[in-house]
Amino acid sequence: MSSATSIDMMKNNPRFMVAVLFLCLFLKTHVCHGADRISGNQTLTSDQTIVSAGEIFELGFFKPGNSSKYYIGMWYKQISKQTIVWVANREAPVSDKTSSVLRISDDGNLVLLNGSQIPVWSTNVSSSTASSSVRAVLGDEGNLVLEEDGGGSNSSRILWQSIDHPAHTWLPGSKLGYNNRTKENQRLISWKNSEDPAPGLYSLELEASTKSYLILWNRTQRYWSSGPWNGHIFEWVPEMRLNYIYDFKFVENENESYFIYSLYDNSPTSRFVMDVSGQIKQQNWMGNDWILFWSQPRKQCEVYALCGSYGSCNEKSLPFCNCLTGFEPNSQTKWDLNDYSDGCRRKTPLACESNGSVSNGERDKFLPMPTMLLPNHSVKAGSAAQCESTCLNNCSCTAYSLNDNDCLIWIGDFLDLEQLSEDDGTGRTFYVRLAASELPNPKKKNGVVIGVAVGSAVGISVFLCLIVFVILRRRKKILKPGKTVEGSLMAYDYRYLQNATKNFSEKLGGGGFGSVFKGTLPDQTVIAVKQLESVSQGEKQFRTEVSTIGTIQHVNLVRLRGFCSEGAKRLLVYDYMSNGSLDSHIFREKTSNLLDWKTRYQIALGTARGLYYLHEKCRDCIIHCDIKPENILLDSQFIPKVADFGLAKLVGRDFSRVLTTMRGTRGYLAPEWISGVAITAKADVFSFGMMLFEFVSGRRNSEQSEDGKVKFFPSWAASVIIDGGDVLSLLDPSLERNADVEEITRVCRVACWCIQDDENRRPTMGQIVQILERVIDVNQPPVPRSLQVFVDDQENVIFYTESSSSQSSQTRSNTSTASSQAKSTTSSKNSLS
Ligand SMILES: *[C@@H]1O[C@H](CO)[C@@H](O)[C@H](O)[C@H]1NC(C)=O
Ligand SMILES: *[C@@H]1O[C@H](CO)[C@@H](O)[C@H](O)[C@H]1NC(C)=O
Ligand SMILES: *[C@@H]1O[C@H](CO)[C@@H](O)[C@H](O)[C@H]1NC(C)=O
Ligand SMILES: *[C@@H]1O[C@H](CO)[C@@H](O)[C@H](O)[C@H]1NC(C)=O
Ligand SMILES: *[C@@H]1O[C@H](CO)[C@@H](O)[C@H](O)[C@H]1NC(C)=O
Ligand SMILES: *[C@@H]1O[C@H](CO)[C@@H](O)[C@H](O)[C@H]1NC(C)=O
Ligand SMILES: *[C@@H]1O[C@H](CO)[C@@H](O)[C@H](O)[C@H]1NC(C)=O
Ligand SMILES: *[C@@H]1O[C@H](CO)[C@@H](O)[C@H](O)[C@H]1NC(C)=O
Ligand SMILES: *[C@@H]1O[C@H](CO)[C@@H](O)[C@H](O)[C@H]1NC(C)=O
Ligand SMILES: *[C@@H]1O[C@H](CO)[C@@H](O)[C@H](O)[C@H]1NC(C)=O
Ligand SMILES: *[C@@H]1O[C@H](CO)[C@@H](O)[C@H](O)[C@H]1NC(C)=O
Repeated sequence: MSSATSIDMMKNNPRFMVAVLFLCLFLKTHVCHGADRISGNQTLTSDQTIVSAGEIFELGFFKPGNSSKYYIGMWYKQISKQTIVWVANREAPVSDKTSSVLRISDDGNLVLLNGSQIPVWSTNVSSSTASSSVRAVLGDEGNLVLEEDGGGSNSSRILWQSIDHPAHTWLPGSKLGYNNRTKENQRLISWKNSEDPAPGLYSLELEASTKSYLILWNRTQRYWSSGPWNGHIFEWVPEMRLNYIYDFKFVENENESYFIYSLYDNSPTSRFVMDVSGQIKQQNWMGNDWILFWSQPRKQCEVYALCGSYGSCNEKSLPFCNCLTGFEPNSQTKWDLNDYSDGCRRKTPLACESNGSVSNGERDKFLPMPTMLLPNHSVKAGSAAQCESTCLNNCSCTAYSLNDNDCLIWIGDFLDLEQLSEDDGTGRTFYVRLAASELPNPKKKNGVVIGVAVGSAVGISVFLCLIVFVILRRRKKILKPGKTVEGSLMAYDYRYLQNATKNFSEKLGGGGFGSVFKGTLPDQTVIAVKQLESVSQGEKQFRTEVSTIGTIQHVNLVRLRGFCSEGAKRLLVYDYMSNGSLDSHIFREKTSNLLDWKTRYQIALGTARGLYYLHEKCRDCIIHCDIKPENILLDSQFIPKVADFGLAKLVGRDFSRVLTTMRGTRGYLAPEWISGVAITAKADVFSFGMMLFEFVSGRRNSEQSEDGKVKFFPSWAASVIIDGGDVLSLLDPSLERNADVEEITRVCRVACWCIQDDENRRPTMGQIVQILERVIDVNQPPVPRSLQVFVDDQENVIFYTESSSSQSSQTRSNTSTASSQAKSTTSSKNSLS
C-alpha cells in the first residue's frame, strides 16, 4: 500500500521525486521504492519490493496464507488478489522478513540471507564478477534477470534468469522444455499445498523423445499426456485449434526443444498453473477473479493418487476426497489445505493384526461400497464364491471385489478408488476390510422391523393403532411444508419432499447439476424436485441466489416453486412439465409425439422469448450457459419452458468445471468457451442457433451419418439456403415435407447468424424474437465455416472451426478484421436485417 502511494506522489510531485532520489543516493544500501532492480550493494528486506518498469510484476517477501514462513516471490502488481507466479526459495523459507535480506553477494550471485546472515538461497552461478557490476532486474514479462555490465558498452550479459527456473506457473513468453546441451528438463512443479510452495508431487514436463508434455506424479508416474506435437497442435489437446488468445509455438533444434506461447494484445491476463490439485490449469483474470477456462486431466479423480491410500475420490462432491468409512486422515491439517497425499489410516486396528487379543474377539468384517471404480494392482485369487473367506484368511488382504466370475483381492494399501454416480454402469461393489466395531450397526437399521414383529406378537390391535398414529403424524407434517420466503417461494422440509417424491423413486432425468425426481403434493399438484450436486455455497448465499431465481417469472421459463436447504442438502422444487424435455420429441425416442412444423416454430419462438427475458428483462442479466434441447421443457400445451437457468451461478463460479462434467453438452458450446475470453449472453445465442438447426433436421448436429463421415448439418443447410436449393430437403424426413418454406428459410438464416465465430456478428435474443415474429427480416447469412467434429475421451462432442490456413495468427487476424468491419461500417444489427 505504502509503495503505491509513494509512486503516485512521485508521479505528481517532481520535488518529492528529487527528494527521494537524493535519499536513495544518500543511503545507497536499500532498494528504492518503485525501483525495478537490486544493484551493487543494495538490499531488499522487510516490506520493500521491486516493481517492473511497466508496473506489471512486483517482487518481495510474502507469506502464503496462514503460514508463518516467508518467501521471496513474484506477483502481479495490478491484480488485487495476490497471485504468486514465481518463488525463489521454495524449499528454504525464512522465519522473519525484517532481518532477512536479498542482495547481490560478493561473488556476483543474488542471495537470500536469513536472520543469522546465513545464505539460504542463491542463484548459484559461478562467475567471478565483482558485485558492483551485477544487478538483478525485474522485467515486465515476469522475469528476474541477473545481469552483468559488459565492459563499458551498453550491452549486458545475462548470468541467470528466473524463467529458466520456473516454479509452478508458466507465463506467456517463457519457455518450458528440455535443454539438449545441459540435459536439463524444466518442470512446472505444483506447490505442496496452498500454504507451502515447496515442490509438491505433481509436475508438467516435456518428454523430448515423443514431443509430448506429460503430467507426472512424484516425477515418475505419468497420468496425463498432451499427445505428440503434430506441427500444429498436440494431438490430445484439440482445443488448441482455437487460437483466440494464445499464439503457440513449438521449437526444436539441436540445442533445445521447448514450447512457448504469447498473448495477443487485447487478451486478458492469463497463466498456466500446475495446481496443487494435480491438474494443469489455464486461468484468466476477469476483473475481479481468476476464472478457470481449461484444465487437464479434465476429471479431478483422474489425478494419480490424489486422495492417498484408503481415500476415495468423488467427482461430484466437494471436497473431492474422503476417507473411507472407518478411516481418518493421516494429517488433518494437510487434509484441510486440500493436500490429501498422506491418505487415511484406520481408526481401529484390524482384529487379525491384533494377534487375536481384541476385547470382543470379533473377526474383521467387510463393508460393501457400491458403484466404485476399482483401484489398480489387484490380485486374482481363486473362486468368486470363496472370495470373502480368501481375503479374510490373509491379514494383508485389505479388500476384495467380484469381477464377473473372478475374485480380485488387494494386498496392503490401495490408491485411486473412485466413487461413481449411482447410474454409472461401470461401477462395481468394493468390499473393504474393517474391524467389526467400525461397521455401521445393523441393529439400528432394523429397529422398525423388530418393533413391528414384537408389536404383532403382543397384539394386532396395538399394531394397527401404531399405524394410525404414524399416519396422523405424517399428515400433520405434510400440512406444514415450510414457510414462504420471498413472494411465492416456499422453503420445504427435506422429509416433506422425501414423502412427496416417494423417497426420490421416480427419476425424470439427470443434468449437470443433479438428478430430477417427480413428486406429488398432498393437493395432487405434480412437482419436479431437483437434487443439486456439488453445491459449494453456504446456506445464506444459497438462499440469496435462490430468491433471485424465484423472482424470475415468465411464461417461457420453468417456474421455481421453492427450495430446501437442510445441512448439506440442497433441493429445488419446480412446476412439473407433463410433456418432458424437447430432445425426446425432436429426436423421436420411443413413442414420443411427432412435433409438426408449426409446433416446432412456436417452440423456437417461445424459447427465444424466454431467453430474451433472461438476458435483457431481468434485474440482473442471466446467461443460461447450457442451452440444449434437454433443458427446454414442454408443458401440456407444448409451450416451451427454459429450465435450469441461474444454476451455474448457484453451483459456483467455476462454470468450466460444471460444464466439462456434463456429457454431450459441448455440441452446443460457443467457441469462446474453450478459447478463454469472457462469456457473454452471445454464448447462449450460439447454443440456441445450434438447436434451431436441430428443430429443422430432427437430428443432432453432431450425429454421424451412416458412412461414418460427419456431415455438419449447419454448413449444408447454409449452402442450400444460399444457393436457393431445395429447402424442404433439409427438413426432418418424418415431417414428409409438410412445412412452410419461408419459415424454414427464416429459421436457417437466423441460425446461421447465431453460430458465427465472432460473437459481435451474432444477433441478440431480442433481434431473434423479432425475426421469428416476422417484425424484421433476416439477410442471407455468410456460410458458417465448416466445423470439424471431435469426440473427446469423455464422449463430449466438440466442434472446431477448421482453420483455413495453417497459421493460427492468420486465422486470428481474419476474425479481428471481420469484427472491426462490423463495428466501424455496419453495426451487427444492420448486417442482419
Ligand atoms: C558498494 O560499497 C562499497 C563499500 O562498501 C563502495 O566502495 C562501493 O563504491 C559501493 N558500490 C556502489 C555501486 O555503490
Ligand atoms: C487462516 O486461519 C483462520 C483462522 O484459523 C481461518 O479463518 C482462515 O480461513 C485461514 N486463512 C487461510 C487463507 O487459510
Ligand atoms: C539461518 O539458517 C541457518 C542454517 O539453515 C540456521 O541454523 C539458523 O538458525 C537460521 N537463522 C535464523 C535466524 O533463522
Ligand atoms: C549450487 O550448486 C552446487 C554445485 O554446482 C550444488 O551443490 C548446490 O546444491 C547448489 N546450491 C543451490 C542453493 O542450488
Ligand atoms: C547499444 O549499443 C548498440 C551498438 O552496440 C546501439 O545500436 C544501441 O542503440 C545502443 N542502445 C542504447 C540504449 O544505447
Ligand atoms: C517419491 O519418490 C521418492 C524416490 O524417488 C521416494 O523416496 C518418495 O517416498 C516418493 N514419495 C511418495 C509420496 O511416495
Ligand atoms: C542432442 O544432442 C546430441 C549430442 O549431444 C545430438 O546427437 C542430438 O541429435 C541432439 N538432439 C536433438 C533433438 O537435436
Ligand atoms: C546451438 O548452440 C551453438 C553454440 O552456442 C550455436 O552456435 C548454435 O547456433 C545453436 N543452434 C541453434 C539452432 O540455435
Ligand atoms: C502382534 O505380535 C507381534 C509379535 O508377536 C508384535 O510385533 C505386534 O506389534 C503385535 N501386534 C499388535 C497389534 O499388537
Ligand atoms: C490403472 O488401471 C487403469 C485401467 O485398468 C489404467 O488405464 C491405468 O493406466 C492404470 N494406472 C496405473 C498407474 O497403473
Ligand atoms: C496373502 O496373499 C498374498 C497374495 O496372494 C500372498 O503373497 C501372501 O503370502 C499371503 N499372506 C499370507 C499370510 O497368506
